[in-house]
Amino acid sequence: MANNIIKNSLENHWMPFTDNRGFKIDPRLITEASGVYMTSHKNTKIIDGSSGLFCSPAGHCHPKIIEAVHNQLKKNTYTSPFGMGHPASFELADKVSELTPEEMNHVFFVNSGSEAIDTALKIIMSYNSATGQNRHRFVSRERAYHGVNIGGVSLSGMVNNRRTFPVVMPNVVLMRHTWTGEELKVKGQPKNGVELANDLERFAQAYGGNTIAACFVEPVAGSTGTLVPPEGYLERLREICDEHGILLVFDEVITGFGRMGTPFASQKFDVTPDIMTMAKAITNGSMPMGAVCVKDHIYETVTDNSNPDTIEFFHGYTYSGHPGSCAAGLASLEIYEDHPLVKDVRGIGMMGGVELHADGHPGKRGTKFQKELFWEGLHVKFTGDSGIVAPMFISEHKHIDEIIEKFRSTLNKHGN
Ligand SMILES: Cc1ncc(COP(=O)(O)O)c(C=O)c1O
Repeated sequence: MANNIIKNSLENHWMPFTDNRGFKIDPRLITEASGVYMTSHKNTKIIDGSSGLFCSPAGHCHPKIIEAVHNQLKKNTYTSPFGMGHPASFELADKVSELTPEEMNHVFFVNSGSEAIDTALKIIMSYNSATGQNRHRFVSRERAYHGVNIGGVSLSGMVNNRRTFPVVMPNVVLMRHTWTGEELKVKGQPKNGVELANDLERFAQAYGGNTIAACFVEPVAGSTGTLVPPEGYLERLREICDEHGILLVFDEVITGFGRMGTPFASQKFDVTPDIMTMAKAITNGSMPMGAVCVKDHIYETVTDNSNPDTIEFFHGYTYSGHPGSCAAGLASLEIYEDHPLVKDVRGIGMMGGVELHADGHPGKRGTKFQKELFWEGLHVKFTGDSGIVAPMFISEHKHIDEIIEKFRSTLNKHGN
């Protein structure tokens, strides 16, 4: 394999977001990947510090995903998604809406984050058309990344992504980004959120709140280098949107599916948008897929706005909800699910608590599990059903990894 690649001139493939000329002189090809490691064409081992492009949190080549996709493709490789369907897309929509905030239960499948953004824009336009509103302005933010289709480029606040593409959607205005320089080395959330969010209010005053269709933000700006939202920022955006009837869109393409420690950033910051876009980790990066999830009233308004027995939303892709991608999505979400026996995981500094669900009476499962851990080679003190993990200060990373791995594998082996 490696030799074949070296002999190939590599000329024919025009690579995306790549220094093509430099790459072809000094290529970096991945020939295999497994878990957190990748192997290059020179047979070197590389640890993946960015989950691919933030899309593979469960590791490369996860066997459960491969098996699920394989099994699905043996049964059905393709079904037209227009006016037809297959069971896996409905099942996946169900699972995704279990993870989204309560009132967001309608999921439209696409094939990428960029398509999710274009789809969200069209849903917003259809919603405004259905409600008879003439809202034609969109608000985004400096340093924003919303993908590379014309919709995403129009909303883009990353200058290089727009520079050579002058013909984009009109009527997009950018709020300031949230990293003002004062936040240098601030850990967690910086402080000046309300003031920055008030940019949206200024636009509402300047243009008329009733001309603004939607405000798009990444809850944590990802591609521009992880800008954590300042305190009160997302909350204030929500308030302003509510005041003026503006739809709030969270682009959760990077933040979705557990990266924030909650299913979505929306739950992490306790702010519910009207529309969420998602992609990447939905299939652990194993198959192309994205989705747009909307509040129920948006779906109902758009679908009720046409005559019965006619198409309600003139939009969709040949590969929307592809059977293979849906199988990958279902398997990935199952992998991300918390272990059924774990009730809570807590931690600060070098102390962690893993609380198991009680089995009959409190303490029974914890006592049994502590013994099982011991014979699997791990000592962890249990109080009741809570394991108290307190590694020695002399521990190296590999020791912490060993503790966690033994805890996890023992849960899988004995914990039922
Ligand atoms: C927030 C956000 N939106 C949209 C996209 C575009 O996703 P895709 O590359 O799948 O089109 C990305 C990609 O990194 C992203 O980070």
